[in-house]
Amino acid sequence: MTILVTGGAGFIGSNFVLDWLADPAAEPVVNLDALTYAGNRANLASLDGDARHHFVHGDIGDRALVDQLLASHRPRAIVHFAAESHVDRSIHGPGAFMKTNVEGTFTLLEAARAYWGTLEGEAKAAFRFHHVSTDEVYGSLKPSDPPFAETHPYEPNSPYSASKAASDHLVRAWHHTYGLPVLTTNCSNNYGPYHFPEKLIPLMIVNALAGKPLPVYGDGQQIRDWLYVKDHCSGIRAVLAGGRLGETYNIGGWNEKANLDIVQTVCALLDELRPDPAGPYSRLITYVTDRPGHDRRYAIDARKIERELGWRPAETFETGIRKTVQWYLDHPDWVADVQSGAYQAWVGTHYGAR
Ligand code: NAD
Ligand code: DAU
Repeated sequence: MTILVTGGAGFIGSNFVLDWLADPAAEPVVNLDALTYAGNRANLASLDGDARHHFVHGDIGDRALVDQLLASHRPRAIVHFAAESHVDRSIHGPGAFMKTNVEGTFTLLEAARAYWGTLEGEAKAAFRFHHVSTDEVYGSLKPSDPPFAETHPYEPNSPYSASKAASDHLVRAWHHTYGLPVLTTNCSNNYGPYHFPEKLIPLMIVNALAGKPLPVYGDGQQIRDWLYVKDHCSGIRAVLAGGRLGETYNIGGWNEKANLDIVQTVCALLDELRPDPAGPYSRLITYVTDRPGHDRRYAIDARKIERELGWRPAETFETGIRKTVQWYLDHPDWVADVQSGAYQAWVGTHYGAR
């Protein structure tokens, strides 16, 4: 048996594929990825020559390609990561988010439904479509609100979160109407190796090391709930193995932190691990214009996945962030590679005006 992973050259997808295949008994992976600016084959370099990893450069919106992959590899599950994932980019250009996150998920669901219809007996009963989603679909919390449970109303506020909410609704409807055996996970902010340096934590690390400003939006008191990426991957594996069909599971680390605290933690770790003769890295913190429509607080109530599936994160924030900073210090070539001309253009467009 095989699993089909979409978006497996991105940040979370590549961590998922690497962790999955770290088990010698694991099923092979067909990895479908369009290699957008966020997809990077170098993340998967350690799998070169491993026959259990079959990389396919292609778009989830290409129905003929997806049909052909399903017919030839006959996967027992699809784990769907592929998406446009950056809120700031969705504000500058929402079109790509509608195309991949909404239309792409629709195409994938239709292809999965057709394929699942050809299965029989055990294979049909075992098939799963696992949709990887985000806590951002629930909107923003006030300081005293309880964390997001799975029953929280959908109130997406950005083009990105609206597109992910739409995809969640499609997945739900394909289960309700057609009986497609789906699972959905809504996870909080991830951090860890291979995180593209347009997102807060890797951006702060690479800018600090380059002596560049550390841009904090607004007052820096927005709160996110941080989870080490490998804990997200173990949560997905737990839900894929034992989640109840048609259910959603929130995944989070009970780790609410204000952005400014995150930036100061990164600075303090760099002061310890790679001291700068010019002074503490926190001297580079620069307050910039806030993100339009910026959600103030996210927090995940992870009790359902803990109770039903016994999942728990392995890392605390303290252990995970130390590993992450160390990973970036140990991989300057990866960082230099992803900071291509297109990356510089994004930094210029986005931060130039702030
Ligand atoms: P990412 O942007 O790092 O990677 C996305 C991957 O999808 C890239 O490899 C890209 O090439 C690929 N892709 C994009 N469009 C495609 C298309 N049309 N066809 C095939 N491949 C395509 O994203 P990420 O941070 O790894 O997020 C993965 C998933 O997890 C997304 O669905 C995201 O919404 C969700 N998620 C992310 C976080 C987080 O903190 N990063 C948290 C919760 C949920
Ligand atoms: O909550 C899950 C979501 O987390 C995922 O669904 C998204 O794919 C992922 O990108 C992430 O979204 P955020 O918008 O929370 O992540 P980002 O790293 O872009 O920003 C984190 C916080 O830091 C947010 O409050 C904005 C702020 N920020 C971000 C950047 C890039 C800054 O203050 N300065 C910055 O330069």
